[in-house]
Amino acid sequence: MFKIAPSILSANFARLEDEIKKVEIPGVQYLHVDVMDGQFVPNITIGAPVVKAIKKATKLPLDVHLMIVKPEKYIDDFIKAGADLVTIHVEATNAPDKVISAIKAKGVKAGLSVKPGTPLETMAEYYDIVDLILVMTVEPGFGGQKLIPSAIDKIRELRKIKDKGKYKFIIEADGGVTEDNIHEYVGAGAELIVAGNAVFADPNPTEAVKRLLSKGVK
Ligand code: DX5
Ligand code: ZN
Repeated sequence: MFKIAPSILSANFARLEDEIKKVEIPGVQYLHVDVMDGQFVPNITIGAPVVKAIKKATKLPLDVHLMIVKPEKYIDDFIKAGADLVTIHVEATNAPDKVISAIKAKGVKAGLSVKPGTPLETMAEYYDIVDLILVMTVEPGFGGQKLIPSAIDKIRELRKIKDKGKYKFIIEADGGVTEDNIHEYVGAGAELIVAGNAVFADPNPTEAVKRLLSKGVK
């Protein structure tokens, strides 16, 4: 059974606590928090102080997606702020294994992510140490973009690798999810689906999550 991680990127930031409450329902496993630095991606969002405030406002575990260069400099800040899962990009650091170990040493789950143009092979040596692999299904940087169709094949490929190698990592997919295409992500083998625009641009985010959950399986 797949789960949803609503991304607050498309929420009303002036009413964040109210927005988060709307998605605290069964089937939602994490709240997805997109951290962007204006360097790794061409957009700037939020930092650790906001994560700390969100942590106080919800019981949902926080899935913190770091789209920042040199994540090793900031992981402690985000863990102290309350991240339950910290995902870094394989493209953002020279030593992903060290950063993954540092995250896990703090008792927090560690994820590794790839941009659409980055091959899965770049993560192969980390398959047995990561808790989660996040496949970007749009170019990271902005919510509300269209799914890049080839990314679905990448999910399918990763799922084969996971099943064959009996790896424990969870497969998360991020970007471009809609009610009409969520079955493609799930069908390809994604287990945790990030949804920003499909949830928070909807007038009723609670119902939007329920619809995504019901439409994920054909
Ligand atoms: C994009 C972010 C995503 C984004 C997804 O860089 O990593 O988490 O919020 O938004 P939607 O679901 O609108 O594509
Ligand atoms: Zn994200």
